This record gives sequence, structure tokens and C-alpha cells, in this order.
Amino acid sequence: MEYIIVNEQYEPSIALIQLNRPKELNALNLQLMQELRDALQQLDRNTAVRVIVITGNEQAFAAGADIKQMADKSAIDMLTIDQFSTWDQIRKTRKPIIAAVSGFALGGGCELAMTCDMIVASETAKFGQPEIKIGVMPGAGGTQRLTRAVGKAKAMEMVLTGRFISAEEAMQMRLINKVVPVEMYLREAMTLAREIAQQSPIAVQLAKEAVNRSFETHLDEGLHFERKNFYLAFASEDQKEGMKAFIEKRKPEYRGK
Ligand code: CAA
Repeated sequence: MEYIIVNEQYEPSIALIQLNRPKELNALNLQLMQELRDALQQLDRNTAVRVIVITGNEQAFAAGADIKQMADKSAIDMLTIDQFSTWDQIRKTRKPIIAAVSGFALGGGCELAMTCDMIVASETAKFGQPEIKIGVMPGAGGTQRLTRAVGKAKAMEMVLTGRFISAEEAMQMRLINKVVPVEMYLREAMTLAREIAQQSPIAVQLAKEAVNRSFETHLDEGLHFERKNFYLAFASEDQKEGMKAFIEKRKPEYRGK
């Protein structure tokens, strides 16, 4: 791996992926995204990992897709390379992913953070979809995920002006989960990850699927999906353990079975 650093057990059950092209503000070139896809596939298969945290550095989570790599491409080059197909893996990851964001999260960087399940940001974080300023538009989910997260009016404003918003504004718009001082954003993301890692990984996976389904379907179908996943949880040993531990007034010990 050249552009990311993967620590499979940054903490017990928690993997950390750090985007690592600091000189380019973690601009997301093709190789970085392929490495990220491969790492996520591997971590998803690793039963010792329950939660994944993706971060950058204090200055930048990621300043977008690599403009220099795209600048002279034709439409057919873009179609053939199909660079956003690697991004689908992020969405397909079954384990929860938390984005720990500091500094710039712009264009593809904002889209990457939004593709994660939750976002913890430092006070210095800046979110934006500035593609309009370079003669294009968001291409990795920005027009869809931002609109679903913050509503049409604010999404239109951000996408059509390219204006950056502060972490505080992002918090008010309900784009992110938390804002904390810069020295705490990774720690705070880890605290959230730890809390999730203590739960049954099977229940977490089923619940994540059901929440995501609410974005993709109508209420009746979503409720049906939720109910099936709820019933399916009863096939796990973790369900027996969780309910038994409650009745016996002790902490459950989940084995992911
Ligand atoms: N692609 C390629 N290189 C980038 C980059 C990007 N998205 N963002 C920053 N860099 C590079 C700069 O070119 C610069 O490299 P050099 O030192 O070789 O010149 C280096 O990173 C540092 O950047 P700046 O000197 O510009 O730093 P700054 O602090 O003055 O400005 C910034 C920071 C406001 C983030 C500015 O770099 C910027 O506007 N970046 C581009 C943001 C952008 O437009 N992102 C959207 C990309 S398109 C996209 O993402 C499509 C999609 O939907 C997936």
C-alpha cells in the first residue's frame, strides 16, 4: 500500500485506515481508491475487526478526486476508466465505517465521508462540493447523498456555489455526528467505534443494512426489510447471549455467531 496506512487492530476490534498523500492534501487518485477498496474488502472479511475508522491528517481528510489525474481526460476515457466503480466497495462494506475528519473534506473527500456511516469532525473541518468551480459537478454521490442528508435547499446551495461549510454548520445541517476540538477528533471517533464494537457484530450488520435500506425504498418495503432482519437476529447465539445477560443482570459477551 503506497497511499494508505492500514492498522487492522488499532484498538482491539477496531481497524484504522489513514489516507496518506499529505503533500496533495490526500487527493484521491485511482491508486489510492483501489488500495482503499482492497483494504475494506480485507477488513470486512476479518472476523477480528468489528468497526472501521477512516481518517486523513489534521490538515486534510481529502481535498477531492485528483484533479491533475483527470484534467486532460476525454468523456470516453472517463467512461472506460470508470474510476467511481471502486467507490462502490465503500458502500458495500458490511461493517460500520466512521469517518474521522479534520481539515478539508472537499468534492470526493466530502463524498467519501458521506459514504461512511457516521462522521466525527474536528472544529477545523471544512466540507464542500467545489466541483462547480472547476467546470464539473459532483460525480461520486455528492448530489444524492448530500441532498438526502441536508435537504434540497442546502444541497443546491453547496453544489451550485461550491462554498465550503464549517464543521459547526455541518453539524447544524445534520451532515455529521459530532464536532470536537482538533486534538480530539480521532479519539472521539474511537470512542464511538468502541461503543459499537461492544455490540453483537451480527446485530450491528443487520441494523446497518436496515438503516441504509431506508434511503433506498419506500416505508412499507423498509419496514418489511427491518422485520425480516429483526427475526433473523434470533438465529444468532449473540441474541441468546444478549437477552440472557440482560435477565441475569451481567454484561453480555458477544462472539459474532
Ligand atoms: N487534486 C489534485 N491535487 C490537489 C487537489 C486535488 N483535488 N487538492 C489539492 N491538491 C494539491 C495542490 O495542487 C497542491 O499541489 P502542489 O503543491 O504540487 O501545487 C497541494 O495539493 C496543496 O494544495 P494548495 O497549495 O492548493 O493548498 P491551499 O491550502 O492553498 O488550498 C484547497 C487548499 C482549498 C483544498 C485547494 O487545494 C483546492 O481548492 N483543492 C481542490 C478542491 C476541489 O476542487 N476538489 C474537488 C475535486 S473534483 C472531485 O472531487 C470530483 C468528484 O466528485 C469525485
